[in-house]
Amino acid sequence: MTKSKIISCRAVAVLVMVAGAVRGETLRELAEKRGVLLGSAHSGRSADAKYLDVMAREFNLVEPENATKFGPIHPSQDTFRFETADAVVAYGAAHGMKVRGHTMVWHQQNPKWVTEGGFTPSQLSEILHQHILTVAGRYRGKIFAWDVVNEAFLDDGSLRETVWRNKPGIGLEGTAYMEQAFRWAREADPKALLFYNDYSAEGMNKKSDAVYAMAKDFKARGVPIDGIGLQAHLMLRSAGNLASIESNIKRITELGLQVHITELDVRIPVDAAGKASAADIEAQGRLYKGVAAICLKYPLCTAIQTWGFTDKYSWIPRTYPGFGAALLMDGDFQPKPAYVGLRDALILAPK
Ligand code: XIL
Repeated sequence: MTKSKIISCRAVAVLVMVAGAVRGETLRELAEKRGVLLGSAHSGRSADAKYLDVMAREFNLVEPENATKFGPIHPSQDTFRFETADAVVAYGAAHGMKVRGHTMVWHQQNPKWVTEGGFTPSQLSEILHQHILTVAGRYRGKIFAWDVVNEAFLDDGSLRETVWRNKPGIGLEGTAYMEQAFRWAREADPKALLFYNDYSAEGMNKKSDAVYAMAKDFKARGVPIDGIGLQAHLMLRSAGNLASIESNIKRITELGLQVHITELDVRIPVDAAGKASAADIEAQGRLYKGVAAICLKYPLCTAIQTWGFTDKYSWIPRTYPGFGAALLMDGDFQPKPAYVGLRDALILAPK
């Protein structure tokens, strides 16, 4: 075949793919064709039928936004509250979606009975062990991947002080307390994929260096870790550069570990009515596309998950006043350029 024929064949192929999408292929259909997991956090709003319909139409992966965290699921020493988590897990199963779990060891959303209980390290160790066995055990075979440890490093790469590490901690130095948590998670569910998850560690920097060093050490010593979660709570103008994110994904996957993009959103400035500028909304679409395209280049980057999908329920406005409009759809479930960007990345990604 001549070169021009090859080029025109390629052009036709791309046109056919784009036409397919225009005909109305959902993100989920495109992700399934591409063999990648595309997910959203689930806010727990099980009464919003439209929300549930759109989520199951567009995604093949779901993660409870809060329901499997320590505080919500284990509010007092002798009480577990599984209702919301059970509902999200059942919703995922009913719609053929995989479910991620989040998270066992974190410095936030811990109940007072843990943080103010005056426990000794050995008591705390027993509490965490039993917690992991109970929660990961309940969802064995239903939750396919867990963020075992969340946000344990500071931006300078040092370890964060938390109730689990050193206040009073479970009695193990350095990263050994995390190693212990991974071992307990493997004990609780031998088949679940186990992740370390963090923010501001998407690109190459001191924090991602520390995460990488720990993962490399864990891999070398057979500590059960399967992947790194890159949260990707991005800001339009300070998202770092995509090449740096790619370098980090490359080095993690070269260790034989998976990468999941776990909490993608792109916050932009909004006015008092919650409206962002058209230029920012367009630029946001390009960033979604760019991040997704990088992940899709690496076979071990196996999931792209956004932290919710409609601006109606995003955590951003209440957490970062003056910012919002961070997700794929507006408050009326209308797709934004971010949706189109993600869709284009899925259509154009190399197989
Ligand atoms: C956030 C939730 O979205 C909020 O609803 C909640 O009030 C606080 O936590 N990193 C994480 C997530 O790992 O668990 C956080 O989720 C967002 C930042």
